[in-house]
Amino acid sequence: MKFFVDTADIADIKDLASTGLLDGVTTNPSLIAKSGRNFLEVVEEICGIVEGPVSAEVTALDVDTMLAEGRKLAKLAKNIAVKVPLTWDGLKACKVLTGEGTMVNVTLCFSANQALLAAKAGATFISPFIGRLDDINLDGMELIHEIRTIYDNYDYATQILAASIRTANHVKEVAMLGADVATVPPAVLRSLVNHPLTDKGLEQFLADWKKTGQKIL
Ligand code: E4P
Repeated sequence: MKFFVDTADIADIKDLASTGLLDGVTTNPSLIAKSGRNFLEVVEEICGIVEGPVSAEVTALDVDTMLAEGRKLAKLAKNIAVKVPLTWDGLKACKVLTGEGTMVNVTLCFSANQALLAAKAGATFISPFIGRLDDINLDGMELIHEIRTIYDNYDYATQILAASIRTANHVKEVAMLGADVATVPPAVLRSLVNHPLTDKGLEQFLADWKKTGQKIL
């Protein structure tokens, strides 16, 4: 499974990219607002840090303006994935932009039928929002399972990009369900390495090693 980080914070992106384990970045208008940066400038900077797809979202609601915005974003860098909302106009824009060779991430997906439409529109990525479904007591994981089944039934190439991930457990569950990508907030991504028995075991090994009086270097 690929890991994208869900942020527009440059320091976090640089730090996580230095692990060699980061496959891409997703942003949205709320994350851009949180960064306090100019949208086009920050997205271009992110594209220079990571080689993989960087999602940048259009803000228009009509297809013509979405296309104009999407084409402008796509010109920023080769690794831009234009993010469009899951509306009829968004799907139309998806079809046109993918036809032009631009990666498209269809966002704000909350049902399997929406994901089916996005695949038919040629989306590179579909972004089902798990946490926001959980917030209203619906099962985000069931949605990932449904989309995986439908995409496998028809061999759709659209990648399932599990989004709105809030916990390490969400990451494990979407991996078990076969999501292609998980986009994860920086803190949750960093937390994946943690286990108290790893810390305890390492402490014991180092204490015992010290007793030997030896050095490797
Ligand atoms: C995905 O692309 C979105 O940016 C994101 O995952 C939304 O997460 P949230 O529901 O925690 O805001």
